[in-house]
Amino acid sequence: MKTYTVASLLKETKLQEIQIKGWVRTFRAKRFIALNDGSTLNNIQCVVDFENTDEAILKRITTGAAVAITGELVESQGKGQTVEVTVTKIEILGDSDPETYPIQPKKHSFEFLRENAHLRTRTNTFSAVMRLRSALSFAIHKYFNNNGFYYMHTPIITGSDAEGAGEMFRVSTLDQKNPPLTEDGAIDHTKNFFGKDTNLTVSGQLEAETYAMSLGKVYTFGPTFRAENSNTSRHLSEFWMIEPEVAFMDLAGNMDLAEDFMKSVISYVLENNADDLQFLDKRLLDEEKTKPQAERSELSLIEKLKFVTENNFKRVSYTEAIDILRNSKPNKKKKFNYIIEEWGADLQSEHERFLVEKHFKCPVILFDYPANIKAFYMRLNEDGKTVRAMDILFPGIGEIVGGSQREERLDVLKEKMAVLDIPEEELWWYLDLRKYGTAVHSGFGLGFERLVMFATGMSNIRDVIPYPRTPQNAEF
Ligand code: 4AD
Ligand code: MG
Repeated sequence: MKTYTVASLLKETKLQEIQIKGWVRTFRAKRFIALNDGSTLNNIQCVVDFENTDEAILKRITTGAAVAITGELVESQGKGQTVEVTVTKIEILGDSDPETYPIQPKKHSFEFLRENAHLRTRTNTFSAVMRLRSALSFAIHKYFNNNGFYYMHTPIITGSDAEGAGEMFRVSTLDQKNPPLTEDGAIDHTKNFFGKDTNLTVSGQLEAETYAMSLGKVYTFGPTFRAENSNTSRHLSEFWMIEPEVAFMDLAGNMDLAEDFMKSVISYVLENNADDLQFLDKRLLDEEKTKPQAERSELSLIEKLKFVTENNFKRVSYTEAIDILRNSKPNKKKKFNYIIEEWGADLQSEHERFLVEKHFKCPVILFDYPANIKAFYMRLNEDGKTVRAMDILFPGIGEIVGGSQREERLDVLKEKMAVLDIPEEELWWYLDLRKYGTAVHSGFGLGFERLVMFATGMSNIRDVIPYPRTPQNAEF
């Protein structure tokens, strides 16, 4: 007897003596089990011979129960499936309780399912989202591996707060009630676990730069942490970031790489995850129908993904973008929460989405931002006021990628750090890269969950990571 997954069984037409294990989605008319094992969105129908099955067993076939089924794969007699399993033996591996099992065969709100995140992958929507998450992750590694990049594991605990990408979470083993103090009453971090103050990393970039300057092409793909108190549908306190870093590559090369990479990973799921995407496409369509006409998206999910893979990203300088925004209707009519008045203004999500969704109607790469709204390590342009930064903006998401060409000139970098009060002692190793064999280099960071949101059409970032960490929430 051979054990099959539902996915492998659905590819067959006729088989004898097979076994399959999974969870009961529904049990209808004492006869029809819809069985799911997570290997595919689809259930397999298992037909029970109820006249020859113990009543006590039949009672235990309830939604959520784990069962092992032995039987035969045959052509289906009914509608809705081509094959089904004629059950010869059913074993209840784990009972469910139909009274209290949270995942009933009906529509649940995403809020309710978030509270039951340990069971939500037993629904079609969440199993599809998480299979896609896994596929995207594989596609990312595949892309870099095929293109000569090395995968680098950057540290999660960091001793420097230099990136300045956001507030950090402190890592400490000191007695919180009674910490050791220095003579002037400050907490004495020399007594702390690492002999210094440490935090969870906000980005692996600075360490990735060190490896790019020896291995040439590297990338990181790991968890990053930001303690900002931003409770939005696009921010997590713990999220996964992909950060390639490449020696001898300038900003134009960085844009080319990012565009090719994004297209490649989206193409991968279009080719390999058709079932899940079709399901999510339909789900999004139903959700869109509940919105007023004016707010509905013109494209379906799959159309949106194809649109990204088939069209060039529009490359626009920050200065051009400011002109467009300043003259835009929502700016003139004061519909934006933040009115754009002058060159130098930081762009908010509402502006990014206006550019992408209303003005250009395609993914946009904005570049050459004002130096003072971007990080210290970005390469200063000859104009002395802009830096070689680039952000990629996606429809429905806003910023999905942030990157830059890095400042490779020691004197310029030191000057910048001095202005921003970043101590050289903390980043001596980063400065060393500019002392010994410095060269042009660039990279970017992709927020993995924002990519998963885009690829699945989910509108809340909490629904594309297994166990979201957000302010006031670290359940599970
Ligand atoms: O723009 P960010 O802050 O860039 C960096 O951290 C650079 N060190 C990247 C680099 O050049 N290597 O973050 C990069 C991306 C953003 O574009 C966004 O997609 C995502 O990370 N991101 C978040 N995703 C979820 N929750 C948050 N709180 C996020 N903050 C940033
Ligand atoms: Mg950014």
